[in-house]
Amino acid sequence: MRVGLTCLALLLVSGCGVLLPSRQAAGPSPAATPGPTGPAGERPGARPSPAPSPRSTPQPRPISCAHTKCVALTFDDGPGNYTSHVLDVLAKHHARATFFLVGEMIHKEDGPVLRRMVADGHELGNHTWDHRDLTALSDAALNHEIVRTERLVKEVTGVRMHALRPPYGATDRRVADEARRLGLGQVLWAVDTLDWRDRVPKLVVRRSTAAKPGQIVLMHDIHKTTVEALPRLLSVFDKKGFTYVTVSELFGDLKPGKRYSNR
Ligand code: NI
Repeated sequence: MRVGLTCLALLLVSGCGVLLPSRQAAGPSPAATPGPTGPAGERPGARPSPAPSPRSTPQPRPISCAHTKCVALTFDDGPGNYTSHVLDVLAKHHARATFFLVGEMIHKEDGPVLRRMVADGHELGNHTWDHRDLTALSDAALNHEIVRTERLVKEVTGVRMHALRPPYGATDRRVADEARRLGLGQVLWAVDTLDWRDRVPKLVVRRSTAAKPGQIVLMHDIHKTTVEALPRLLSVFDKKGFTYVTVSELFGDLKPGKRYSNR
């Protein structure tokens, strides 16, 4: 993990020859110990090339979800092998979504896909460094899980995230306090598609499209079956007249520390 991060920082500058782990071999590893290193940006002398200015990217739209049928689709645990295809499908339906990124899933080849998320108007959210149950961590480890991903995403995209999704939805007063200190709203969900457990596209379609206006839908862009379900579920939402919004568009500015699952 230390080599990977250092390399990512160096690659952004000069093209370091050490290979990062392949995406296929990597994944959220709940059993791993927290790495001792800080994010890539902390390494002296290894400055990444400047990320595009967030000002040049689409801003949250002033959509009144009190008067419009809004749904906030959210995709967790990536980026992964299917994420760029997910972006293609969302673009076809003019759909914005929120991607809750796991820091250790961000490899050197993911810069373009993360920057495309931003350019396409999607929101980026923090899903911790390696998908730990935050309520089980020490204060220092809890802080590290969040800050390490914040810094890496800022470095790669120029975006400062405002939303935290605690893995497993596990949160408590201490997690809320840390989220508040770090300026992050806690974004949970109202509709769980259970797409990680039931790898059946038609179930993902049925469960996601049961969402009522103003709700957040939880999915995972790392599962092929979810990606297969996406065109169909978007067609159903289209027919029902839904507008696809990011979590910040659904709630307006997220209040740091506050929990959100539906309007
Ligand atoms: Ni997750």
